[in-house]
Amino acid sequence: LHHTPTPTTPNTTPPTPWKPTGTTLITGGTGALATHITRWLAHQGAPHIILTSRTGPNAPHTQTLTQELNHLNTTITITTCDISNHNQLQQLLNTIPTHQPLTTIIHTAGIAENTPFEELDLPHLDAVLRPKSLGALHLHELTREMKDVSAFVLFSSGAATWGGSHQGAYAAANTYLDALAEHRRAHGLPATSIAWAPWAESGMAADDAASAYYSRRGMNPLPPELAVKALHQALTHNDTTITIADIDWHKFPASFTAQRPSPLLAHLTPAPAPAAAAEVTSGQPAATSALAQQLADSTPGQQQQIVLHHIQTTAAQILGHASVDAVPATQPFQDLGFDSLTAVELRNQLASSTGLDLTPALIFDHPTPKELADFLREQLADEDVASEGRLLTELDRWDAVSESADVDEAARRRITGRLQLLLAKWSDTGRETDRSAAHSDLEAASAEDIFDLISDEFGKS
Ligand SMILES: NC(=O)c1ccc[n+]([C@@H]2O[C@H](COP(=O)([O-])OP(=O)(O)OC[C@H]3O[C@@H](n4cnc5c(N)ncnc54)[C@H](OP(=O)(O)O)[C@@H]3O)[C@@H](O)[C@H]2O)c1
Repeated sequence: LHHTPTPTTPNTTPPTPWKPTGTTLITGGTGALATHITRWLAHQGAPHIILTSRTGPNAPHTQTLTQELNHLNTTITITTCDISNHNQLQQLLNTIPTHQPLTTIIHTAGIAENTPFEELDLPHLDAVLRPKSLGALHLHELTREMKDVSAFVLFSSGAATWGGSHQGAYAAANTYLDALAEHRRAHGLPATSIAWAPWAESGMAADDAASAYYSRRGMNPLPPELAVKALHQALTHNDTTITIADIDWHKFPASFTAQRPSPLLAHLTPAPAPAAAAEVTSGQPAATSALAQQLADSTPGQQQQIVLHHIQTTAAQILGHASVDAVPATQPFQDLGFDSLTAVELRNQLASSTGLDLTPALIFDHPTPKELADFLREQLADEDVASEGRLLTELDRWDAVSESADVDEAARRRITGRLQLLLAKWSDTGRETDRSAAHSDLEAASAEDIFDLISDEFGKS
């Protein structure tokens, strides 16, 4: 975990570690993260835990969990409650035994989202906001007068801290939780809103595809044991809003600043230079890439096809397609599903494989694979002029062709003269002025003058 702010005044007495007492209510209590929290609370000696969700006791794994924790001194009650329903929550709160009053609320209920911004409509927003934001509001309204409540924890998300592609409603719902925590603190009520980065192992962001997606963007999945420790620390320190994430700072900022600067991230760390980002992505120096070798061995016509195919293959792999057919040459990247994060990933991979210094806005400036291939091909041609490999390849080609040349003596003389001129030009790098003068002489000269000049300068071959 990184970038925790340094306290301005040193705190010499460590706070007493937070401990659960009385009854703990966990909304979304049959979900993945709640299961980790329940296990931890039971080992911390929580006397009574109520787990609620719409599925309640019928949710998978609830039996296993209660059996697993059977030997501990914790009573676990699993019950049905739609947290977006005010009456259902009120009825549930009425069942809490007076000898084990409600002291801790952990609101984890919520649903995941993966919807493009332009497809957001009111029913969708409502579905995402209800369990999280409305549920949190109900918990706040129905418990704010309960004097025993000393911990009010809201499970927010990194989407509320830095935003998330296809998570417009989800980001809003989580931002509501952060704002509610501030509101409660301002009124002297307990509140801790934790914006989590993805957890590993289980939960709404833990399948292989999601884990790979987040890791590529610089968010390493949080090991549950470490995440639970961080939660404990936040409760002990009475944090109001906190983001808990394991960030790879070489990758993360670039993904979020592809199209615009991020004042939030600018304060945390500078974005890596493109070449550095490319090396991070590929794990190898750009100049040694296989693509560079393939291009060096090809004609300009072949190079165009190779670059296009390379772009299509890389784009398909980033988007999770099995075949390049899913990436037609003339279809805009944005229509194919590229967003600013995947755009940076494509940029990084292409920078790595071509050795070129490419802008993060690459696919916005060159919006289709074909246009991007044209651009990269031009850039690579410019690079080629100065490359040793390219020059030696050309010499090899000359060597092979000249060996079998069938020319008469006069032609041989002319060609030899030309070769000697080329050699002199190549060796004579320090004598710009003389060479320019020789060039202007040559430009004005007739064929006979040139042969005379060759004889004068180099003798007859
Ligand atoms: N997993 C992560 O990596 C991650 C990262 C950042 C933030 N978070 C947040 O952490 C929380 C838990 O995530 P998770 O991965 O454990 O998700 P999960 O396994 O899908 O659990 C979510 C739980 O919420 C319950 N729920 C949904 N709507 C409800 C409603 N109206 N009333 C009551 N319960 C409801 C679901 O059960 P029913 O469908 O049976 O109601 C489910 O048990 C979520 O709020 C999520 O946004 C998770």
